[in-house]
Amino acid sequence: MAILKSLLATVTFVTLLALAQCNGAFARSHGMRKDELHARQLEAAKRYTIDNLIRSQQDDTSSSTSGIKNITFSNPLASQFYVDGSNLPLIDWDVGPSWAGLLPISNDPDETRKLFFWFFPPGPNGSLDDLIFWTNGGPGCSSLEGFLQENGPISWSYGQAQATQNQYSWTNLSSVLWVEQPVGTGFSQGIPSAQDEEDVASQLVGFLQQFLEVFSELKGKNFYLTGESYAGTYIPYIADYIYSHPTLLDLSLQGIWMGDRKYFVFIFLRLLNASLQL
Ligand SMILES: *[C@@H]1O[C@H](CO)[C@@H](O)[C@H](O)[C@H]1NC(C)=O
Ligand SMILES: *[C@@H]1O[C@H](CO)[C@@H](O)[C@H](O)[C@H]1NC(C)=O
Ligand SMILES: *[C@@H]1O[C@H](CO)[C@@H](O)[C@H](O)[C@H]1NC(C)=O
Repeated sequence: MAILKSLLATVTFVTLLALAQCNGAFARSHGMRKDELHARQLEAAKRYTIDNLIRSQQDDTSSSTSGIKNITFSNPLASQFYVDGSNLPLIDWDVGPSWAGLLPISNDPDETRKLFFWFFPPGPNGSLDDLIFWTNGGPGCSSLEGFLQENGPISWSYGQAQATQNQYSWTNLSSVLWVEQPVGTGFSQGIPSAQDEEDVASQLVGFLQQFLEVFSELKGKNFYLTGESYAGTYIPYIADYIYSHPTLLDLSLQGIWMGDRKYFVFIFLRLLNASLQL
């Protein structure tokens, strides 16, 4: 037991060291010192203060003053995807309106490959100008993991007997679109055909085109690609695909965000496994 403890301590130390080096390398590769990076992060955070958001909301005549942003979709197809948030099984509060379902990855009438999505409009303090896309990694991890355990309005994490409201849902500030991709992931349908990351990117853009036809009020929004873990591989390819095909998508790509809360655990388990086998 003592051996295991000291092993764990060593592994933890090595892991922390590795992470510290990664962070340093990131800042260095961008020609920025740590304090410069922090100053820039603070500056960016200021743009999202609640005061600013409320000011922009007051100029926004389409929003109601209480409750979820009043977004309505003119395409009658949209109503087929409507989810009544007051009546979700096992959820004992009103999550608000949202839209979920399957849409194909191309406009081919015989298309059999479909991605599963769940779209939420922003809460009363949020902005209707933005649309955040989220995908989990894997490859092959369900994006409902992010939706239900990390950044969505519902928290149902490990060890919770019952779902609770997530006070820090990204939907407080922005519209968010969770997508189960690529084909083969989660509730998506069809036979996977992607051979590489570029295929994955082009299929996702195909899906987004179909999505914007149904939810056309979202056209032209400021668009942010986000995800975690292996999504760190998907996202740069998707961003590159959107940039190299500027006419395909009626969205204004403004930024990407990649996080990896599992990075630590992953290295930790790998090292622990290696140590125990010695
Ligand atoms: C939402 O918008 C619709 C029309 O687009 C309007 O009829 C309805 O009253 C609005 N609801 C709120 C709460 O503002
Ligand atoms: C919106 O912001 C106001 C002012 O900060 C705060 O009092 C209120 O609780 C916020 N509402 C929600 C739903 O976040
Ligand atoms: C997010 O919105 C919920 C209501 O939808 C509110 O209770 C919560 O306080 C908000 N969180 C923050 C950090 O403002």
